[in-house]
Amino acid sequence: MAKNFVVFGATGAQGGSVTLELLKACNSNSNTNTNKYNIFAVTRNPHTPRACALSSAGATLVQANMEDAHSLQEVLKGAHFIFVVTDFLGADGNSDRELRQGLNVIEAASSPACLDTLEGVIWSSLPDARRQPVAYENIVHFNSKRAISERLWSSPLRTKVTEVWLAAYYENFVNSWGIYEPQKQPDGSYILKYPINADSKIPFMSVTDLGKLITVIIEDPIKYHTKVVSFVSEWHTPLELLESFRTATGVEAKFQSVTTEEFKQHLETSLHFPGNVALSMAENLSCYRTNPNMIMDYTDYAAKDLLQGLRTWDDFVRGQDWKSYLASK
Ligand SMILES: NC(=O)c1ccc[n+]([C@@H]2O[C@H](COP(=O)([O-])OP(=O)(O)OC[C@H]3O[C@@H](n4cnc5c(N)ncnc54)[C@H](OP(=O)(O)O)[C@@H]3O)[C@@H](O)[C@H]2O)c1
Repeated sequence: MAKNFVVFGATGAQGGSVTLELLKACNSNSNTNTNKYNIFAVTRNPHTPRACALSSAGATLVQANMEDAHSLQEVLKGAHFIFVVTDFLGADGNSDRELRQGLNVIEAASSPACLDTLEGVIWSSLPDARRQPVAYENIVHFNSKRAISERLWSSPLRTKVTEVWLAAYYENFVNSWGIYEPQKQPDGSYILKYPINADSKIPFMSVTDLGKLITVIIEDPIKYHTKVVSFVSEWHTPLELLESFRTATGVEAKFQSVTTEEFKQHLETSLHFPGNVALSMAENLSCYRTNPNMIMDYTDYAAKDLLQGLRTWDDFVRGQDWKSYLASK
């Protein structure tokens, strides 16, 4: 019998990768005429191009809002697997909103209508930056995820939970509202400004690889129940990122190391982020100056040991259309 898999954030980067990989698993099974999964892709708006594309590819769209507990009950009824990712940036810095999303999903999934069939909950989370060798107290998207985790680990779902901690996406370098991107200067050159050293090691992964990890986990769900899986594919320094960028584009580019406060101010004044989001992103990046292993520490499994052929930074750079990227700046 096909398993019901409910994917939150299906129209986004993480959930999109999960949905596409599950669809692939179904298609590879097509000669037996039985689908492995019924894929339910959650969206607030089933009419967007991204949602329609998922529907055309074979996922069933289900409309729900994680901030509306009531809308989740029906969606989670009869689910065998649930992938949960909460939204942070869309929540304009209101950490209560991300927290509410997570708690609503936990509450709805804890109802007998879901618990009776449930085989696994995969929760996309992050480590506790407040409990690192150098502590960072103000990263709202880390803190709200830990608050959701606390509730999860004391809920009726706790025996079936797997947490996955993701490193920074390579994709942020070209698509992160400007946060991780090189900034164009009036003379046409670029500056990459981060609150870390030129040789600080940033943990990275390609978000397009996430679905592969999720399919590994659900092939043997009990092995991963109550475990934390880290997802880091490689570490790279700002100098390495810039070297690739220069080579791929032919433009001049320099690195500038700034303080956490300077980076926060830049996000507030140049990119108009609210103060607490700017501080969160500044501390998030600063973490890698002092705690480069943060995503790997205190975990049970590493994606690198479970999967072959993870995308590298070089793969990512080769796959970019840099001409269009530069033209858009
Ligand atoms: N960027 C990184 O390097 C990185 C690294 C580790 C972890 N993260 C975490 O990744 C998360 C974001 O995931 P992403 O990159 O996949 O986001 P994304 O591409 O911006 O997509 C956001 C998704 O969330 C859905 N969504 C937002 N609010 C919703 C709501 N109220 N109810 C239902 N669905 C809602 C959206 O669906 P609809 O609009 O279709 O409803 C969309 O599918 C954040 O929590 C962030 O902290 C990011």
